[in-house]
Amino acid sequence: MNDTDQAISIIRTRAGNVSPKIALILGTGLGDAINGWQTLAAIPYGVLPGFQPSGVESHKGQLSICRVGETQIAVMQGRFHLYEGHQASAMLGPMRVLQALGCETLIITNAANALYEEHKPPGLMLITDHINAMGDNPLIGKEGNRFIDMNDAYDPALRERLLACAKSAGVTLHQGVYYAMLGPAFETRAEARMARQFGAHAVGMSTVPEVIAARSLGMRVAGISALTNRAADSTGKPHTLEDVIEGARSVAGDLGKLMAALLR
Ligand code: HPA
Repeated sequence: MNDTDQAISIIRTRAGNVSPKIALILGTGLGDAINGWQTLAAIPYGVLPGFQPSGVESHKGQLSICRVGETQIAVMQGRFHLYEGHQASAMLGPMRVLQALGCETLIITNAANALYEEHKPPGLMLITDHINAMGDNPLIGKEGNRFIDMNDAYDPALRERLLACAKSAGVTLHQGVYYAMLGPAFETRAEARMARQFGAHAVGMSTVPEVIAARSLGMRVAGISALTNRAADSTGKPHTLEDVIEGARSVAGDLGKLMAALLR
């Protein structure tokens, strides 16, 4: 058995014969978004072949199989970041497992810095597109599908649906381009200005590797940023991880409402 088959067997042993069609990756500080969801099984990444243990304190590092009403959903509580020393290709294993489990749609969330005054944090931003400034790509190497189309990587129909769900749930959902940097140091003022001049609306340190890996497997992708802080130029305030986590926590409830509306 390969890693993916082994992981699927472990998941089905623990959660029963589940087949979620949707997966959700929860970013920094967003764990509370799934409060109240029924958890069928929570499996630490450490026991799943193809996954890496998540070394970031603010992340749980487990795959949960949840149920909301009649709908099953696979939830990655925590992710692996390139700044922890992983290569982007480390995201392929988990994406293969989610796809093999039955997930056709992947919703990826993160915490990000808002580059525009109109997007006052804390808030939520639907990702319309991304700029990969991480210097890595999960498709580097020998295996699989390499030269994939990245136009409309963030599925237009799914975006429309999420905007409609936000409206019906009474949640403000901005829209914009996500600029992915390697981190873990926060961006300089000049880097934030550059990202904005390049056409970005938010800056973060994740998401892009998972999006590319998922698209290479043909999954439908949407991305949502929790806008947790503002570019330093405009506030004069230093960026801190504590502020990022607190900002994300304060919008986790809205993210939960949006997800509940989508799953209905
Ligand atoms: N920079 C990069 N990533 C982030 C930030 C930031 O300012 N805030 C939250 N995630």
